[in-house]
Amino acid sequence: MTTKIAVLPGDGIGPEIIAEALKVLDCLQAEFGVPIETEQALIGGAAYDATGTPFPAETLELTKKADSILLGAVGGPKWESLEYSVRPERGLLGLRSELDLFVNLRPAILYPQLVAASTIKPEVVSGLDIMILRELTGGIYFGQPRGRRINEKGEREGFNTLIYSESEIRRIAHVGFQIAQKRNKRLCSVDKANVLECTELWREVVIEVGKEYPDVALSHIYVDNAAMQLVRNPKQFDVMLTDNMFGDILSDCAAMLTGSIGMLPSASLDRNGKGMYEPIHGSAPDITGKGVANPIATILSLSMMLRYSLDDAVNADRIEKAVLSALDSGLRTADIYSEGTQKVGTTEMGNAIVSALRKSKQ
Ligand code: IPM
Ligand code: MG
Repeated sequence: MTTKIAVLPGDGIGPEIIAEALKVLDCLQAEFGVPIETEQALIGGAAYDATGTPFPAETLELTKKADSILLGAVGGPKWESLEYSVRPERGLLGLRSELDLFVNLRPAILYPQLVAASTIKPEVVSGLDIMILRELTGGIYFGQPRGRRINEKGEREGFNTLIYSESEIRRIAHVGFQIAQKRNKRLCSVDKANVLECTELWREVVIEVGKEYPDVALSHIYVDNAAMQLVRNPKQFDVMLTDNMFGDILSDCAAMLTGSIGMLPSASLDRNGKGMYEPIHGSAPDITGKGVANPIATILSLSMMLRYSLDDAVNADRIEKAVLSALDSGLRTADIYSEGTQKVGTTEMGNAIVSALRKSKQ
């Protein structure tokens, strides 16, 4: 059966990196007979410019019908002065919410080839392989009430609500324990239970769920300490389970351990494993159109798609190996460049990965 993939390039470097991922998909189809059909749709600022909304109904329709979704990035300075309800980010958040993609997997792996690209000492990061599991459809990102108003003193005021129901915490906690069972059986839940009631409940529910997984060692850490420990000694972690906002922040931090934010893929899944796959980095307006963006996070997101949604570990492995082989040959985009390697642009990196993938057939 043909797999239908909805492709949403979005804004900034989104279209540039998606173009490289599409070459990988073409190669999978041509060389390995993976039956794939792609259809593109607008999201974010590009959608706003064309239709007046960052999240057009046709885009939602297409993503609902698709088996899987590949997204580039959204946002940029051009749309920053728009009202919140029509900002590019609303498109992405709308998709996560409408499709109930509450599970967000952000693996932070340091490939040996990139040890020199990390700003952290090699002994601290070499061999790093952690999984950040971020709750993606609740918490302060979606809590009501939210908004801006003029208070009694005539001052402007902004407010958001951090809220999680027990069931929202429970379902992501189960995923966390199950992922830990397949890895090193250690789950560290990140909260701010010393200050925020909502995350006190988070901790409580995670402990309750943990009773069903006696084989997983559960620990808890406050988010401020977690940020520090990620830089001090990241290898102490296996799976980190956390809420929407803490996960957003900690995953950027973890990304830098791997050499560059341009390396980190992500999977956002619903309860049935249907998912949206995207690099964790943003639209990078500063380098848009220059042909220097790193396409690896997006290409690795494809690999995650094959593994988690399409049940095709063989081709997922092939893509990962092709990425490693491009890195082995010394090619680096600017963000992961270090002395003694060869700096290349987005297309050259994409081409090198595709050619390694093609060669892996022989
Ligand atoms: C991410 C991004 C998004 C988020 C933005 C673009 C809305 O930073 O996926 O980490 O905050 O979730
Ligand atoms: Mg982020």
